[in-house]
Amino acid sequence: MLDKETGAGNDFLGWKQLPDGTPESLIQACEAVRDDWKSRGVDLVVVIGIGGSYLGARTALEALNHQFIQDTSKPRVVFAGNNLSEEYLAEMMDLAARSNVACIVISKSGTTTEPAVAFRVVKEHIEKRYGKAEAAGRIVAVTDAVKGALKTLSTQEGYRTFVVPDNVGGRFSVLSPVGLLPICVAGYDVREMLRGAAAAKAQVSVRSADNPAVQYAAMRNLQYFELGKKVEVLVTYNPRLTFFGEWWKQLFGESEGKDGKGIYPASANFTTDLHSIGQFIQDGDRCMFETVVSVEKSNRSVVIGSDEQNLDCLNYLAGKNVEHCNAMAALGTKLAHIDGGVPQIEIGIERVNEFCIGELFYFFEASCGISAYLLGVNPFNQPGVEAYKKNMFALLRKPGYEAQTEEILKRL
Ligand code: PA5
Repeated sequence: MLDKETGAGNDFLGWKQLPDGTPESLIQACEAVRDDWKSRGVDLVVVIGIGGSYLGARTALEALNHQFIQDTSKPRVVFAGNNLSEEYLAEMMDLAARSNVACIVISKSGTTTEPAVAFRVVKEHIEKRYGKAEAAGRIVAVTDAVKGALKTLSTQEGYRTFVVPDNVGGRFSVLSPVGLLPICVAGYDVREMLRGAAAAKAQVSVRSADNPAVQYAAMRNLQYFELGKKVEVLVTYNPRLTFFGEWWKQLFGESEGKDGKGIYPASANFTTDLHSIGQFIQDGDRCMFETVVSVEKSNRSVVIGSDEQNLDCLNYLAGKNVEHCNAMAALGTKLAHIDGGVPQIEIGIERVNEFCIGELFYFFEASCGISAYLLGVNPFNQPGVEAYKKNMFALLRKPGYEAQTEEILKRL
């Protein structure tokens, strides 16, 4: 169905073409923004967006950035508009005030409340600080080609804009300008990411039992339908991939959790979480299975030294890499969890870099489409996310919601 484009939501399959169909001119346009901001001395880029309009870019940057040190040859990229916390926004603005700031605002609809609120604050700051003309060069919008408030504003203010294609839904948009622009501006090689995605596309497009996306989709549906497993925990042993769990949760949660069906997507970072929810996974309700995203090669080497006194009794590990201990922890956990009734699916990448992150993005997008069709739902809609919005608008007394406001106030 995914291949022949005959399934529900088949007007949202534009993501399938992104790895090899993205024109060089689009990447060059992203690089032009990066270089322009460098020439303006920008050292902080605020990326505003929520859901599919932020999770992919943040996932890539959390995977690729140094985990402790900001590379001063690149701007720091921070994310806003993905919540409505006043303290979060205020503290982000504290950072903006002491930085040379630019902003990428991303909203396909152009009307989502969380990013709209954050953008109003950031836009006002940039305009007051640099003047309207300079602000127009420091704000770039990623939105619909023709419609929505953000598109109208961009045209009026003269912002550079990038298009979220009509046929690409939010959670499938990381390989469109939604992800490519922030990742490129942060200094990473988006061509390499697309090459990785294209490699995954070649693997998951074959019509055979060897297709890894079909295997993964089949295995998780087997867990659900045959073994009654209602929870899937995406596990990684590399903290660089912790946020990958957030992207994956949105992808599968929003695509499959509907019509009273779906596997609840959870995530964990081992060995860290073996010291917290590890107890539950080993010994609690047998409702779950695990999918481990493992990384074959470490990008860095730390060798454990020998100690004459050996008071910590670690000399048996002297000369070994820390990653060796991590690998043995993973193997030991696998056996323990399988013994404890938690089946494990394994998905491996060679190392954490742009290519492999691109591979993972495309692999899971394709698997998600196949898996949702096996489950019998439309992977590409999200009717459930409207419910909270209606109540919130009524409570905020948005014009047009007067009747709902009365109704809700009675209930409260
Ligand atoms: O996957 C989705 O469609 C959603 O998570 C959207 O990305 C999210 O709601 C943001 O929407 P928009 O880009 O229109 O602001």
